[in-house]
Parts: sequence; C-alpha cells; structure tokens
Amino acid sequence: MTSTAERTRVGKYDLGKTLGEGTFAKVKVAKHLDTGALVAIKILDKEKILKHRMVEQIKREISTMKLVKHPYVVQLLEVMASRTKIYIVLEYVTGGELFNKIAKQGRLSETEARKYFHQLIDAVDYCHSRQVFHRDLKPENLLLDAEGNLKISDFGLSALPQQFREDGLLHTTCGTPNYVAPEVIMDKGYSGATADMWSCGVILYVLMAGYLPFEEPTILALYKKIYRAQFSWPSWFSSGARKLISRILDPNPRTRITAAQIHENDWFKKGYNPAKFDREANVSLDDLDSIFNESTEHMIIEKKETKPVAMNAFELISLSQGLNLSSLFETKEGISA
Ligand code: ADE
Repeated sequence: MTSTAERTRVGKYDLGKTLGEGTFAKVKVAKHLDTGALVAIKILDKEKILKHRMVEQIKREISTMKLVKHPYVVQLLEVMASRTKIYIVLEYVTGGELFNKIAKQGRLSETEARKYFHQLIDAVDYCHSRQVFHRDLKPENLLLDAEGNLKISDFGLSALPQQFREDGLLHTTCGTPNYVAPEVIMDKGYSGATADMWSCGVILYVLMAGYLPFEEPTILALYKKIYRAQFSWPSWFSSGARKLISRILDPNPRTRITAAQIHENDWFKKGYNPAKFDREANVSLDDLDSIFNESTEHMIIEKKETKPVAMNAFELISLSQGLNLSSLFETKEGISA
C-alpha cells in the first residue's frame, strides 16, 4: 500500500522538519521549489503578536535584521506573510551549535577558541557599527556553517521581550542569566555595546575552560558572583588570555574594554584575519507594513498537500510507465507563489 504524508508549501518553499520550537515561534527547515536550496524559516503567529501589542517591535526588528549582512551572522533572506502568520526566511546553517561541539569534544585549544573569538568580535563589532545590539549572546545563538565558521543567529530580534527572544531554539522558559552583564541584571539602563562585550567575554571563557565562569545553585548567588565578577582561572589559561578576559569581565561598563581596544590586544592580534566582505552591500528596506495589513496583495498562501512517500520497489515499478519514474515526483499544480 502507498502511504501518504502531508507537506506544507509556503510561497516558493516546501516546509520540512522543525529545528526548534517555542511559545511564540517555530523554526523549520525548508526547500526552495525551483533551486532546491535549503533555508530556515522562522514562523510567527500574527494573532499572538497582535495580542501582545508587538507589531511595531516586530517590524522594527525585522528592518534591523535587514540591515545586517556579515559573513558571521545568519542572513535574513526575505519576509513573507500569510493571513495568519509571518515567515522570516533565514540562511540555513548546517554545522549545529558551537556549544554542542564543546559538549561532545570538551574545551577547545587556545588557538581554536581564539579563532571563534575573532569571528565573534568581527560580527558583534560590525553589528554595533550599525547600531544593532544582540543583548542575548549565548551559546544557543552561536551556530557553525559547513566550513566550521561561526554564524550568530538572532541578531536583531534582540530588543524583543524574553519570551519572543527565545524563539523556539531550545528554551521556552527563562534560562539562567549566566551570560548577562552585571548592569543588565541590575537593570540600571545600559549600553547594548558594552553589555554584548561582557557576553563575548563569558563565551571566550567557556570555549577555553569547557565550563562557565559564573555558576551558582541559586539565581541570587549567581547575581552576586556576576556583579562582583568573581571567578577563578583554570590553570591552563595563558597570561595573555587572562589579561584580556579580565578586561572584558570588568563589572563596570564604563571601564570595560571596547571592541576597538580588543583589536589592539596582543593575545587577540595573534593570527587575526578580519573577515573580508562588502561593507557597502545593498540593503533594501522595503515596506514592512504589508506583513500586518489585511490587504491580500502581498500575501502568500500556506497550503497543505498530500504526497505519496515511501513506496517499496514493487509499488514503484508497478506505477512506472516504461520505468520513467519522473512523473511520480512532480508536484501538483495550482499552488501559490
Ligand atoms: N536553527 C535556528 N536557526 C537556524 C538556522 N538559520 N539554520 C539552521 N538551524 C537553525
């Protein structure tokens, strides 16, 4: 017997398996119908966004993401909307999370950690130059591409409240704030740039140590450690790395090292090859209002269709005409573009 499976088509894409899922968003892999190219599609529910009065924020954040084009940042490709959903089409990254690599292989060598730190600082500094701040840099947001290069995800969805920021990638409730700067914890009003830099320091420590600098059984104890910057040095950290990390994990954001100063640091400079890319790349900031409009002019249709799958060899041969199987793989007509 031939079994069937439902597939969902969104614009020019066929949706595939879920990569991550949360309260407000889902991320799925998808395949372009013509080119076969894979993308990741973040799916937001319009009704939930309206209910939480997040429309302006979502629009602002999508336009911010459109401004960012950097080799170490997951690229936003396009935005689509149906009557009920918003689809944010992103570059698909295949190497998994950087921190899965550490979970599997343990801590990195100083040289390898430095390579990722170079890429992290390159991307973060570029985003800051465009007034885009992440505010939630953490391991789940650091992906690897097929070449083993870093790709930061979610730069730009960062000004959203916590539940939105946790965009379905692993967590549905608030995680512990191990990567968060002291001034953010104390909610004093802070600069996005210096707060991101702190998180980069925590990330560098974790890459080299294989564990967190600040970890306590209770949130209160954790906060105390963070705002006093109380941590210890693993014996294998070189003095150069210690010097740099202690300048990043400075609890005072006013005296904390800046990206410009990091570029002057001796430990950082070793083997540093800044990413080459087109800084002037064209960014289109077209109209985002339409994604929430009732007007159906720009809307795509999400459509489920049923396709045959997993036939055995006998079924295939009995259905094939002269062994030309191509007709079996044609999709139905009449699906929206
Ligand atoms: N998970 C979340 N975003 C992703 C992306 N852009 N590529 C691959 N996996 C992801």
